[in-house]
Amino acid sequence: MKTILTGIKPTGTPHIANYFGAIKPALESAAKNSPLERRGGTEGDGVVKSFFFIADYHSLTTVKCAKEMQQLSKEIACTWLACGLNPNKTIFYRQSDVPEIFELSTILGNVTAKGLMDRAHAYKAAVQAGENVHIGLYTYPILMAADILLFDTNFVPVGQDQKQHIEIAADIANSFNAIYGKVLTVPEPQIRKEVAVIPGLDGQKMSKSYGNIIPLFATSEELLKCIKRITTDSSAPTDPKSTDHLIFKLYELVATKEKTVEFKRLFAQGIGWGDAKMALFTELDVYLTPMRVKYNQLMADYSQVERILADGAKKARKVARVTLDRVRKAIGI
Ligand code: ADP
Ligand code: TRP
Repeated sequence: MKTILTGIKPTGTPHIANYFGAIKPALESAAKNSPLERRGGTEGDGVVKSFFFIADYHSLTTVKCAKEMQQLSKEIACTWLACGLNPNKTIFYRQSDVPEIFELSTILGNVTAKGLMDRAHAYKAAVQAGENVHIGLYTYPILMAADILLFDTNFVPVGQDQKQHIEIAADIANSFNAIYGKVLTVPEPQIRKEVAVIPGLDGQKMSKSYGNIIPLFATSEELLKCIKRITTDSSAPTDPKSTDHLIFKLYELVATKEKTVEFKRLFAQGIGWGDAKMALFTELDVYLTPMRVKYNQLMADYSQVERILADGAKKARKVARVTLDRVRKAIGI
């Protein structure tokens, strides 16, 4: 049986690249075959055990306001559920509810070379930008390794930007195993090529930090406004257009095959950017509406989400305890 695990940190409004790049692929992998629902699977028969969580301690690097932290965590919890996470199939929890993660993180710090942390992208970027770097940012990859290794994770579904973090987690697992024997499972990133890096409104990678996002739960009016802001060129409506453009890439993700073939033909033949944007809006709005409705319902009645998270934390801790006992035994504590 394979284990998949992924986390999202509550640092801002969830956007459609989070959904198509990480949430949707993760949910699809989890839905394949779940032992929580369908007992009796045997090793290697494609049964997947899944752990999805809200990485709230990871967002401490940027979120320094308690109220904001609570609101953003709530939003990410409702996002997972609105996007289709089934708590009967997946163990769903808040990182902060599983203290075993922090114990493992302390242990892993002792088999992690400082040079490995020096090479981490986020830390390097902060140093280059002349920021006042905190140790929490510096050791961010160790905490993430603990998230992953605690659950004997085989695959971590993420977007391309997280690849280095998963490789660091694998390095840390290997360092630990080199000293203590084969105790930890070595994880691998699971990255879908076609959605590895989804561009934002301005053409560069869509990211909360670049202010170029299309929010996942925007109202129809906001969605249309956002789509109208997508950068295009000044070519005439009759000029052929390249399909290597956010408008086409998003359309392809949400429209049927037939509609996509037709859209491609229109691009080759020449379509005005205004018309292309309207076509994308129509498809995207239909696609996102059911999730938006569910999200708003969950946000309005959060107590049911709290119950799901409390139950998830219990299940997660049970699994975590087993790994942590194994690790403690290996290190002699
Ligand atoms: P952001 O860059 O907006 O802060 P996060 O770091 O919170 O996004 O990412 C959450 C998940 O979404 C991660 O697995 C990440 O790889 C994925 N993701 C974020 N942006 C993109 C993107 N533009 N394309 C594909 N996946 C993405
Ligand atoms: N670092 C990830 C991000 O920025 C979030 C995260 C924390 C994560 N722990 C994880 C992702 C474990 C996958 C597995 O998006």
